[in-house]
Amino acid sequence: MQQLDTRAEGLHIGFIMDGNGRWAKKRGLPRTAGHKKGAQVFQDIVRYCNQIGVESASFYAFSTENWKRPENEVESIMRLFKEYLIKAFDYKKENNRVCFLGDRTPLSRDLVQMMEEIEEGTKNNTGMTLNIAINYGGRDEITHAVRALAQEVQQGKLAPENITEQMISDRLYTGGQKDPDFILRPSGEKRLSNFLLWQSAYAEFVYMDVLWPDFTRHDLDLAIDEYNHRTRRFGGI
Ligand code: IPE
Ligand code: IPE
Ligand code: MG
Repeated sequence: MQQLDTRAEGLHIGFIMDGNGRWAKKRGLPRTAGHKKGAQVFQDIVRYCNQIGVESASFYAFSTENWKRPENEVESIMRLFKEYLIKAFDYKKENNRVCFLGDRTPLSRDLVQMMEEIEEGTKNNTGMTLNIAINYGGRDEITHAVRALAQEVQQGKLAPENITEQMISDRLYTGGQKDPDFILRPSGEKRLSNFLLWQSAYAEFVYMDVLWPDFTRHDLDLAIDEYNHRTRRFGGI
C-alpha cells in the first residue's frame, strides 16, 4: 500500500461538521444523539490537528440558517455547545488560540460569556488557531464588513474608491488570519452551505462520504493526503 502524504504543518483546514442527524437516524436515535457524538469527534479531531502541526482549524458548528430547525433541536444544540464545545474541553491545556466566528447577538448571555472567557483565556496560547463558527454565515459576515466600511465612508474617514480587498478581509470575523487551504465536508454533501465564502476563494474542496460522528483521525489523514496531491494555481499556470 502506498504511504499517505499527511504533511499538515502550516495548513488552515475548514471542517463542515455535517451528518449528525443521519448518523442518529441510522441508529434509531434522536438527532441530538448525533450532535453529542459529533461534539466528541470535534474534541478528538482538534487534538489530532494540534498534534500534526495544523496551523489553523475552523469548525462549522451552527449556521445562520440552522435556526430554521425545530426549536427543540436548536435548544439541544445550544446546550451541547455549553457542555461539550466549551466546558468539557480544556482549551488552555491544549494550547489553542480560540476564536468564535459569527454573530453573537441572538445567542444566550451565558453562552456568549463562556465564549468571551475562552477567547480571553487562550489569546496568548502559542499552538493552533481554533475557530469555532456559531451562528456563522458567510453572507452575513460580508454584510457586517460592508456595513462597517459604509459607516467609515459616511463619517468621511474613507473614500469609496479607496476600499480594498484587504480592508474587507480585515473586517471579517477571521480578520488577520490566513485563508483556508482546504475545506473538508464529510456526509456526502457537496456544497459550501454559506461557510467561509470570501475566505475560500482559492481553497481546495475535499468531500467525503463518512458522516461526521463516524469521522476518524484516519479520515483526516486521507483528506490531507488528497489535498497534498492537488495542484493549486491561484489563477497562474
Ligand atoms: C451537522 O449535522 C450539525 C449541524 C448543522 C448543527 P446535521 O444536523 O446537519 O446532520 P444531517 O445533515 O441532518 O445528517
Ligand atoms: C452546514 O450543514 C452547517 C453546519 C455544519 C453547521 P447543514 O446541514 O446545515 O447544511 P445543508 O442544509 O445541508 O446545506
Ligand atoms: Mg446537515
